[in-house]
Amino acid sequence: MVGTGAIVAGSHIPALRAHGDRVELIAAVDVDTDRLKAFCETAGPDVTGYSTLDAMLAAERPDLVLIGTPPAFHRDQTVAALGAGGGAVRKAALPLAPGIRRG
Ligand SMILES: NC(=O)c1ccc[n+]([C@@H]2O[C@H](COP(=O)([O-])OP(=O)(O)OC[C@H]3O[C@@H](n4cnc5c(N)ncnc54)[C@H](O)[C@@H]3O)[C@@H](O)[C@H]2O)c1
Repeated sequence: MVGTGAIVAGSHIPALRAHGDRVELIAAVDVDTDRLKAFCETAGPDVTGYSTLDAMLAAERPDLVLIGTPPAFHRDQTVAALGAGGGAVRKAALPLAPGIRRG
């Protein structure tokens, strides 16, 4: 999970828990270390916190990266997650820079 803000804590985590027999949350990423710490304490002892996506991708092998950061970060974080070999799901529509077409 990348970003541990309102929508992730209030919406994504309950949804993941509803599928707890099939989904294992292993890591959370947030640049706000206080928020990250609080999130990990709530999420459980098996969730490791990282302050950057790159650090998480260097240490973990997630099957799926859920992106819940502000939209300006979605493009680069999606590319990084896919480049690391995992899948990526964005919370919002991917904002595209001029000259980049939806593929
Ligand atoms: N809140 C809603 O009702 C709602 C509805 C639809 C879509 N969204 C979308 O969900 C996303 C998050 O919304 P929110 O309300 O949870 O925002 P939020 O500000 O509560 O949470 C965003 C989190 O991302 C973290 N963050 C920022 N930059 C980061 C980075 N580079 N790497 C890692 N973490 C980073 C912030 O520290 C913060 O904890 C946004 O894309 C928003 O557009 C939110």
